Amino acid sequence: VIFESSKEASVLVAHEIANLIQRKEELNEPCILGLATGSSPIKVYEELVRLHKEEGLSFANVITFNLDEYYPMDKNNIQSYHHFMNEYLFNHVNILPENINIPDGTVSAEELQQYCIDYEMKIKSYGGLDFQLLGIGRTGHIGFNEPGSHINSGTRSITLDHLTRVDAAPAFLGIDNVPRKAITMGIGTVRNAKRIVLLGWGISKADILKSTIEGEMSSQVPATYLQEHDNTTFVLDSEASSEL
Ligand code: GLP
Repeated sequence: VIFESSKEASVLVAHEIANLIQRKEELNEPCILGLATGSSPIKVYEELVRLHKEEGLSFANVITFNLDEYYPMDKNNIQSYHHFMNEYLFNHVNILPENINIPDGTVSAEELQQYCIDYEMKIKSYGGLDFQLLGIGRTGHIGFNEPGSHINSGTRSITLDHLTRVDAAPAFLGIDNVPRKAITMGIGTVRNAKRIVLLGWGISKADILKSTIEGEMSSQVPATYLQEHDNTTFVLDSEASSEL
């Protein structure tokens, strides 16, 4: 779906999420959301915060799982995805702290593999994700599933591509400060979500979105694995869709 502006599109995506939260609340069920970081979802979070503050949208029944976190990464570091989520969403809504799940960038190397297995099991224990919000990296990654990621991959640690680290460098004041690794949900984790919305804004994403939507499904562009998911929508602005 192509919109003139990312703002208009983000408001509609936020309303879809809000409707899902309310539907689940009426059924007395938790709403399990998979959340993303990066610049792409910011306007969605802004609208969700507005709906909470001005229209009484409650997050009391919401349980969240974030896609990824740099590794190693302290939660208090301003570049951490923990900090990002608090700043753009969690500090402004009534979600219960125990319902927030973000991969922990401070687990020891020895514990990392088991930690990832446990993260995956926790998502499964809720019956999987009701909704997964995604951005896309210029390598074709979703979460931090870089080229080479397997279609059935689960939560695990991964080595970041050079291009991903180049794109992250400004936020870290130089590429040398960008972690070389991350913890990410897998392609399989994401594809198990009942509903997926991928956001793509701006001209810098036009090429990778063309490969993702029109190219062959391949581990070289992990986001192509969404082509076979039966309830995925790519929500783009006019610049991001300009190569389609
Ligand atoms: C990071 C995140 C991804 C995100 C991507 C794009 O790599 N791990 O989840 O989709 O950045 O970021 P942006 O939305 O800022 O373009």
